[in-house]
Amino acid sequence: MSVLHNLHLLPQTRQLRALHTVVRDRHAGLDSFVLHSRRIIRLLLEAGLDQLPFTEHDVTTPVGATYRGLRHTVDVCAVAVVRAGESMEAELRELLPGICIGKILIQRDKKTKLPHLYYSHLPPGIADSHVLLLEPMLATGGSANAAIDVLLKAGVREENIILINFIAAPEGLRAVSKAHPRVKVVVSSIEERLNENAFMVPGIGDFGDRYFGTIDSGAR
Ligand code: PRP
Repeated sequence: MSVLHNLHLLPQTRQLRALHTVVRDRHAGLDSFVLHSRRIIRLLLEAGLDQLPFTEHDVTTPVGATYRGLRHTVDVCAVAVVRAGESMEAELRELLPGICIGKILIQRDKKTKLPHLYYSHLPPGIADSHVLLLEPMLATGGSANAAIDVLLKAGVREENIILINFIAAPEGLRAVSKAHPRVKVVVSSIEERLNENAFMVPGIGDFGDRYFGTIDSGAR
């Protein structure tokens, strides 16, 4: 994966693995799945914000000393790929309460696994913004690439897109990197492979279904 110049894998700490251990467990209850997913999402979003441009900004501390700080210098908005990407919105609003959030509805065909674009509604002025693209799952990478194409068509610069991704298959990362090499990808785990159903292994199942509680627990 070192060939992927714009890949930012979260530090694989024991704490992160402990969080993943909870959400990977097929027997995780909905409340536990949501809680622990959100803790990982928070780490991903903080890492995503680190990819934005900064400028130097000094402040005076309570003891009268100068702290040589930084602050973001650009407009940033987010776009969630419905439905799973919406799971990241609550954490994002905790970090940036006033952020504009667009939507792109893409669903994979159940049989062919190919993405189909149904709808998009993007914030005004997005062409001049940096965009956090919220898409937790990168399996074949088809959905993420389709979403990136929507952003490019709206005038967003490829290098201004930061894909916030919970888990990724090597196949998906390669597909995004090949089609859109300047997109930055922030991910918390790289999986071993895709199986014959285009699900990641070891994987997490259908993230959207598990996060929103729309699957019967026996099928997880
Ligand atoms: C899942 C997932 C991603 C996509 C990843 O969405 O949430 O959007 O598949 O697969 P890909 O990289 O092979 O395109 P799905 O269409 O199942 O909809 P959902 O978000 O409602 O679960």
